[in-house]
Amino acid sequence: MRMYDLIIKKRNGGELTTEEINYFVENYTKGNIPDYQVSSLLMAIYFQKMNARETADLTMAMVNSGDILDLSKIKGIKVDKHSTGGVGDTTSLVLTPMVAALGIPVAKMSGRGLGHTGGTIDKLESFKGFSVEMTEDEFINNVNTKKIAIMGQTADLAPADKKLYALRDVTGTVDNISLISSSIMSKKIAAGADCIVLDVKVGDGAFMKTFEDAKTLGTAMVNIGKSVNRNTVAVISDMDQPLGFAVGNALEVKEAMDTLTGKGPKDLLELCLTLGSNMVVLAKKAKTVEEAKEMLLGTIKDGSAIKKFREFVEAQGGDPTFVDDREKLPKAKYVVPVKSDRSGYVSKINAQNIGLVAMELGAGRATKESIIDLAVGIVLNKKRGEKVEKGDVIAYIHANDESKVEKASKGILENYEIKAEYKDEIPLIYDVVR
Ligand code: URA
Ligand code: CA
Repeated sequence: MRMYDLIIKKRNGGELTTEEINYFVENYTKGNIPDYQVSSLLMAIYFQKMNARETADLTMAMVNSGDILDLSKIKGIKVDKHSTGGVGDTTSLVLTPMVAALGIPVAKMSGRGLGHTGGTIDKLESFKGFSVEMTEDEFINNVNTKKIAIMGQTADLAPADKKLYALRDVTGTVDNISLISSSIMSKKIAAGADCIVLDVKVGDGAFMKTFEDAKTLGTAMVNIGKSVNRNTVAVISDMDQPLGFAVGNALEVKEAMDTLTGKGPKDLLELCLTLGSNMVVLAKKAKTVEEAKEMLLGTIKDGSAIKKFREFVEAQGGDPTFVDDREKLPKAKYVVPVKSDRSGYVSKINAQNIGLVAMELGAGRATKESIIDLAVGIVLNKKRGEKVEKGDVIAYIHANDESKVEKASKGILENYEIKAEYKDEIPLIYDVVR
């Protein structure tokens, strides 16, 4: 087989066979095919597209390029959750203890975040002593006894995707539905889950800017899941404003705990119930999402969700008294209100840019080497649809470096759109693809 022939075939609109796809993924991962030929093939795929069979084959070729986690020693149906990336997205921290409190095993292997705020692991390090370092046996044992564990990424999952994604990033071939969907699904499948619930974000702050594009991506991923025997559901949700109020690591941890005790933001709770109920149904613990939502709400009402969260923090070396006394979480030196310079209704909050403001305060990593300041970030005080008078506080800046406050304040004001009226209400949940 020659790479040259594959390029020509795809360039002319042909369909690559399973063997051809396996050949190029395997040999590119091993370093046997140069970047320029793979770039050329990716560009041909970008223009000529791949059908569902080719997309599923590409996914499995990338899964098979590295380690595949064996979670078979964990009893029960393992359901994983993945978000295509939002701003102030604390759903994992809320969902996992709620779902685990219902007896559904949550086994997550997580990496650190590169972006506006840290990833789930960074956020959890707000608890003094918390660690994701454990052996695979300890991980499995924790999930079997406590139903929940998060482990740092030790296994080499889908290395082909890592290499291909880096190449796509610099060759103008990222935004093709087959390439994105196979990239995301390959990592989820290699992580060993039986079922997957995806949160596909749509809006200014997301990868997909329109509902149609998000739905196409969601449908492609559900189809991949189906064809490789992993039941998959995709929820299409809004990212035209940050989720909840808090953007920043410890601030989001506090918001997650507020939500677990019934005092959280409405939108965050609603999204968690939608994602969570689909996880519960896939795990076969409920027949309908309505029934599952009631069960999840029950874990908040009877205190089992926050109890599970406390148990999880303690099991991984974190100080559980931080759960009882949230004042112990990392706190910023300065909390500065940002006041509106206009009256009207909040019609939009540019999530992406608010995320960047939080990152500049130190909440996220600009490069892999950056050190996160867990305490800093932004807490929104007004959200879309709310009325504001000139002088009302629209947000609070949490900063440790006073010299960064003025720029952050300006950045927040610039990214709040305040208009005389608010008409076109945007839904939080657009659709669920099954
Ligand atoms: N996220 C991924 O993991 N892969 C893509 O291709 C795009 C977004
Ligand atoms: Ca939030």
